[in-house]
Amino acid sequence: MRDRMVVIISGANSGIGRAAASRFASAGFHVVMACRDLSASRSVQQEIIEKSGNDNVSLLELDLASLSSIRHFCSTFRQTFDQLDVLIHNAAYLKHGVKTYQLSPDQIELSFATNLIGPYLMTKLLMEPLRKSSDARILHACSTNIKHFFDPKRKIEFDNLQGEFKDKRPYSTYKMYGDSKMALFMMTKRLAEELKPDHIQVNALQIPATQISKRTIDNLSPIWRTLAVLQNLFNPLPDEVAECYYQICTAEKYANLSGHLFNKQGEVILPGLSKPDPLTQAKQIFGSTYYPAYADDPDTIQQVWELCTKWAQH
Ligand SMILES: NC(=O)c1ccc[n+]([C@@H]2O[C@H](COP(=O)([O-])OP(=O)(O)OC[C@H]3O[C@@H](n4cnc5c(N)ncnc54)[C@H](OP(=O)(O)O)[C@@H]3O)[C@@H](O)[C@H]2O)c1
Repeated sequence: MRDRMVVIISGANSGIGRAAASRFASAGFHVVMACRDLSASRSVQQEIIEKSGNDNVSLLELDLASLSSIRHFCSTFRQTFDQLDVLIHNAAYLKHGVKTYQLSPDQIELSFATNLIGPYLMTKLLMEPLRKSSDARILHACSTNIKHFFDPKRKIEFDNLQGEFKDKRPYSTYKMYGDSKMALFMMTKRLAEELKPDHIQVNALQIPATQISKRTIDNLSPIWRTLAVLQNLFNPLPDEVAECYYQICTAEKYANLSGHLFNKQGEVILPGLSKPDPLTQAKQIFGSTYYPAYADDPDTIQQVWELCTKWAQH
């Protein structure tokens, strides 16, 4: 099967993923919506087909937190599609206010399972169709949340990823989300090196606060729901980030860039200084041109890589 460019977008039923699916469909791509709730996603699929006038919008089941679901998704995809041009790891787990330790079906902390291990395994299992594209591009949805690592004391909590300290340390999905997104950026850098010989580019986008979908808001506790509704009054629509996904994954000017973190303006974010003066530190934290130096720590990158490769073998 090969008459148009193919893109997979995880979490394409809601928020930024949904806007991105619409953007790629309007541009004539064959869009594969990788979603965990098929019944809720069918109406979105239909809406995208009607709005874009493009019938080539498929819906495939994927629970990114489950290794067996990822294997099943990738095998189904490979049976139908020969080639993959764009792979957008957009779906993520974050549920504000959750304080009870969350484990995936494979017994790894849920943010790490969904936001790091899942995307890594999925990419690995899709290497064959990606290699067949002449300009394959992978994009990871990172977050401004990683700015918390400008605090030199902040480190990824590697020793509590299977609930080792679940009864002794306070758990916050927000903290684990930030750790998993930093790990995702580190994995991006390492994966970009690994995929150089295949000419497959891998980048990450640092997404700032953006309007949250009604579906996600409805799933929050009353207090977080109210806060999310209020925040939505000030935050931009998901379409802005979706356009950024589209540009990074298709525009000629990004064709030879790999292993980078981009900001919403499409600029490469640079490594911050590890011991900045207070003014530079303020610029690093509040601007969108620097990322925390911690992201370049080779030992931590290696630790993230070993975590991904170990779990992908389960
Ligand atoms: N919005 C922001 O302010 C913001 C800021 C920084 C970064 N980001 C990042 O941008 C990306 C999109 O965010 P968003 O605001 O559009 O979020 P969203 O509207 O809440 O959408 C998240 C999507 O991920 C899916 N998902 C979650 N867990 C999954 C799993 N285990 N398997 C398959 N799909 C799963 C959800 O599916 P269901 O509908 O079935 O739950 C939903 O489709 C995320 O990576 C997020 O971390 C967002």
